Amino acid sequence: MKKTLLLMMSLSLALFVSCRHDSETMADRFVEDLLQKMTLEEKIGQLNQLSGDYRQTGPNRVSADKIAEIEKGALGSVLNVFGAETTRKLQEHALKSRLGIPLVFAQDVIHGFRTTFPIPLAEAASWDLEVIERSARIAGEEAAAAGIHWTFAPMVDVTRDPRWGRVMEGAGEDPYLGSQIARARVRGFQGAGVGAVDAVAACAKHFAAYGAAQAGRDYHTTDMSERTLREIYFPPFQAAVDAGAATFMSAFNELNGVPATGNRFLLRTVLRDEWNYGGVVVSDWGAIRELVPHGYAADDRDAAFKAILAGCDIDMESNCYNRFLAELVRQGEVPEALVDEAVRRVLRLKYDLGLFEDPFRFCDTVREQTVLADASHRLAAREVAERSVVLLDNKSGVLPLDAGARRIALIGPLAKSERDMKGAWSIQWDDRELVSLYEGLTERVPVGTEIRYARGCGIDSSDRSGFAEAVAAARASDVVVMAVGEAFDMSGEARSRTDIGLPGVQEELIKAVWATGKPIVVVLMCGRPMTIEWTAEHVGAILCTWWLGSEAGNAIARVLYGDYNPSGKLPMTFPRSVGQIPLYYSLKNTGRPAPDDHAISYGSAYIDSPNAPRYAFGHGLSYTTFDYSELQLSTDRMSVDGRMVVSCTVTNSGSRDGEEVVQLYVRDLVGSVTRPV
Ligand code: BGC
Repeated sequence: MKKTLLLMMSLSLALFVSCRHDSETMADRFVEDLLQKMTLEEKIGQLNQLSGDYRQTGPNRVSADKIAEIEKGALGSVLNVFGAETTRKLQEHALKSRLGIPLVFAQDVIHGFRTTFPIPLAEAASWDLEVIERSARIAGEEAAAAGIHWTFAPMVDVTRDPRWGRVMEGAGEDPYLGSQIARARVRGFQGAGVGAVDAVAACAKHFAAYGAAQAGRDYHTTDMSERTLREIYFPPFQAAVDAGAATFMSAFNELNGVPATGNRFLLRTVLRDEWNYGGVVVSDWGAIRELVPHGYAADDRDAAFKAILAGCDIDMESNCYNRFLAELVRQGEVPEALVDEAVRRVLRLKYDLGLFEDPFRFCDTVREQTVLADASHRLAAREVAERSVVLLDNKSGVLPLDAGARRIALIGPLAKSERDMKGAWSIQWDDRELVSLYEGLTERVPVGTEIRYARGCGIDSSDRSGFAEAVAAARASDVVVMAVGEAFDMSGEARSRTDIGLPGVQEELIKAVWATGKPIVVVLMCGRPMTIEWTAEHVGAILCTWWLGSEAGNAIARVLYGDYNPSGKLPMTFPRSVGQIPLYYSLKNTGRPAPDDHAISYGSAYIDSPNAPRYAFGHGLSYTTFDYSELQLSTDRMSVDGRMVVSCTVTNSGSRDGEEVVQLYVRDLVGSVTRPV
């Protein structure tokens, strides 16, 4: 009996392997046959990607000259165009081209499509891989229903500088957490696999080291040792490869003197040769053309030459390949085999998406309507939002709010804002569907509770005329909730800041309200770690809620009242001041480790600030307490490739249900190369 079962199992395994092999061969043969039929210009067309004229409220348009290109087969993919109807029409134009090769539609689906989920940095604070995967799954499902085949996500750039606006798009400072999250997001977007009608192809970006831009200034130079690159910045990309990410995007920045988009070491030696990666590499927006201002290419022609040689397959929005590549091949400067190699990968992506079989398979308007109206997506968004909240401080014990407090003052420039809840990089939001804290709180407060609202000041203004009203509202209330932070467009691409404190006069507003002596909860809404020294020292209860998406207000209200007990942990260090940056948890010990009292000790320290951050990576409180005991190691020695299990008992020693993220940090004390503390 056992033997028969074993035989059956190995037979079906063999069958599976050979079916896979057959379909691989079929795909390769299809791509090869098609490639043979293509003219050089048609091949280059597949490497050309342009943007439609993106508008938040449709219909998206594509200009007549781009449609002419599509009909000529001179455009292989389009970004910023979506909608089942719109993409169908464009696909019809593509089918009129000589070989009828379908288009691929791409979009930055960063944290939700129709339903806006928390910004990626916020989701990372959940440390909850299932929740993060589900968020990407729903985003993928909605995007695919709206005709999109390919998302430019996840951004897996490790980043240790909160001045950089794009920290909001990633998973924070840690290569390990970042790798786990990269995998979860790729799995979520790609669902059952590229080609499933409810999934989109993922894109690991921006390869590489974009998050290390000097001084946190976007697009700036990066320069680092190969060790740091491999140990800190590469792992999430490698994790994305392991998870099957269909595509990669090259970065804008230069790395050690060579721009990433023209960097053979990155795109060939590491990605192709070492990691054996077979997917498409797309340039970032206009990044091929930018090889010129970088000082790496003499002109656009030279830029096309250097990018294709380096291994960048698709030219997004530079128009360099379509203007110069044919000439470069004809003049013998670029071997046609290099172009073929890139085109093969693009055709294979289209094949895997099932577009050759049915170019309209993502253009179903009925499915679009049903999926985009699915109410369960909002519920999921609320759950993810709750899990993304980090309780930074509760020394006053004001949280959760006492249901008996019947007079609440809700103060601050973000209290009634719906728009800012969506964060940067949201797509199809409708302001009316975003829930502000005011709306969420009004729904949640116990019957008979009065909410006194006062804006107090603008997000980034110097106008103090609203202070008096805010102070009066606080005086007449039992407890004050203050919603402060950044506007949605103060973090994100091209949104670097040198001062990451509360903008405008918000801190002054907090001081004025604090002077009333009323208990205060500060709700910090932001797209990056911020410096909030005065608030941290004086206000006894602080919640970091980032930008939480469609369900922000409901989620925050539920956390304020303890319906959900916060369990988020910071994925990125909150410094005390900009002067400490870069500051991250896995620093080296140095030869002169210093006590944290900032006395002059000739230790590695400052004379005007502690070394320690305000809130460390991994920090996050709960309304309950947890005790750790019985720490055990499965072995006290481990070989280099060995395995050790560390276990412990975690007891909820408080009076409420709660969840805890158990974190383990290790340090190799002595090595031929020093290791982080
Ligand atoms: C960003 C990319 C994005 C691309 C397309 C660029 O400016 O850096 O992350 O995918 O635009 O929208």
